[in-house]
Amino acid sequence: MTGVGIDLLEIDRMQAALDRRPRLAERLFTPGEREAAAARARPAQHLAARFCAKEAVVKALKLESWDPHEIEVVGGGDGPPAIRVSGKVEALITQRGLTVEVSLTHSRDTAGAVALALPAAARGAAC
Ligand SMILES: CC(C)(COP(=O)(O)OP(=O)(O)OC[C@H]1O[C@@H](n2cnc3c(N)ncnc32)[C@H](O)[C@@H]1OP(=O)(O)O)[C@@H](O)C(=O)NCCC(=O)NCCS
Repeated sequence: MTGVGIDLLEIDRMQAALDRRPRLAERLFTPGEREAAAARARPAQHLAARFCAKEAVVKALKLESWDPHEIEVVGGGDGPPAIRVSGKVEALITQRGLTVEVSLTHSRDTAGAVALALPAAARGAAC
C-alpha cells in the first residue's frame, strides 16, 4: 500500500503558537529537530517545514493517531532531509513493508512538505 501526503503552514502561525505556548516545541519536535532549527537564522521557518513533514507523513500513511516524536526529520539544511520513524509508526511501516520519503520547502511566509510512502525495496529511488 503506497501513499502520498502534503501539508502547508504559515510560518507566522507556527511562530505565534510557539510564543504563546512555551512547551509546544518540546511536544511537537525532537531534541535534534529543535537543536537544528535553533542553529538557523529563522528557527520557526524550519520548525514549520518539519511540522508539515510530520503531517504529510501522517497523510501518506493514513495514520489515525500519532506521536509527533515518532516521526522525526533528520538532515535538511544543505542537503536532502530524511524521515526517521520510531515506536508505533516504525512498527506499522515495518509491518506494511514501507519506507517514507519527504521533501521540504519554505518561502518568506509559508512552509510546506510532501511525503511519499513507498515499498521499502524502493528506498532511495524517489527524488
Ligand atoms: C536544494 C534546492 C533545490 C533547495 O531549493 P530552495 O528553493 O533554495 O529551498 P526550498 O525552500 O524549496 O527547500 C528548502 C529545503 O530543501 C531541503 N534541501 C536542501 N538541500 C537539498 C537537496 N540537495 N535535496 C533535497 N532537499 C534539499 C532542506 O530540507 C531545506 O529545508 P531546511 O533548510 O528547513 O532543512 C536548491 O538549493 C538547489 O537546487 N540546489 C542545487 C543543488 C545544490 O546546490 N546542492 C548543494 C551541494 S552541491
